[in-house]
Amino acid sequence: MGCGRSAFHSENRRGKLRKSATFIAVVHWLSVWCLMVACRARSSEHTATARGSPVSSTAPSASEPVRAPDVLYVPTPQPVVDRMLELARLTSSDVVYDLGCGDGRIVVTAAERYGARAIGFDIDPARVAEARAKVREHGVEALVSIEQKDIFTLDLKPASVVALYLLPQLNVRLLPQLEQMRPGSRIVSHDFDIAGVVPLEALTLRPPGEELPHSIYFFEIPLKKTE
Ligand SMILES: C[S@@+](CC[C@H](N)C(=O)[O-])C[C@H]1O[C@@H](n2cnc3c(N)ncnc32)[C@H](O)[C@@H]1O
Repeated sequence: MGCGRSAFHSENRRGKLRKSATFIAVVHWLSVWCLMVACRARSSEHTATARGSPVSSTAPSASEPVRAPDVLYVPTPQPVVDRMLELARLTSSDVVYDLGCGDGRIVVTAAERYGARAIGFDIDPARVAEARAKVREHGVEALVSIEQKDIFTLDLKPASVVALYLLPQLNVRLLPQLEQMRPGSRIVSHDFDIAGVVPLEALTLRPPGEELPHSIYFFEIPLKKTE
């Protein structure tokens, strides 16, 4: 009797195990299928993006950056922006590129104060939206445009002035692109110089209300390399 009951229980348990094994297998295959569908959707999105169709540089449809920014957003204080543009001896014939333009203050100032044409590039769509709003707010749409682009993919030849507020290693990574600029073109960099390149001028200023001093480095093409 005891033996019959234990045989019954063991048979019952095997049945339950079989059922739960079937259930687990169904759930497993369902998850694999869902994952495959998701991956296929993502890969076609990537292909389309690489061909440039849905994400244009001027009107990005994605709400996420193309990739993470190489440096966080920290704005240049306005007195430092003013000094950078003075140091670059800006005129209305200049074309200014701000590589990683943040809220667009450098390109807006270049247009407003000097009548220069300017393009701000940023990889982060939030910054691009902010900068475009600033351009509209200041009424400089005829001179300034803002593009969502990775600065390491840019042709810098059309620029006569490049503004930088990045990081030392990013400035060095930009060197091959900077060196392609036309002779006489200028580069102004906030806080960081370019390793291996001699600045023609360097200055430090401490705007009112700022705890730390800010440096500005000025370079001209062809760049003067350290010995
Ligand atoms: C320190 S902030 C400088 C902002 C502005 N130029 C200024 O001086 O006020 C650096 C900016 O570079 C952008 N950035 C970082 N990596 C980038 C990349 N690879 N391509 C384009 N923009 C980038 C960030 O989103 C950020 O807005």
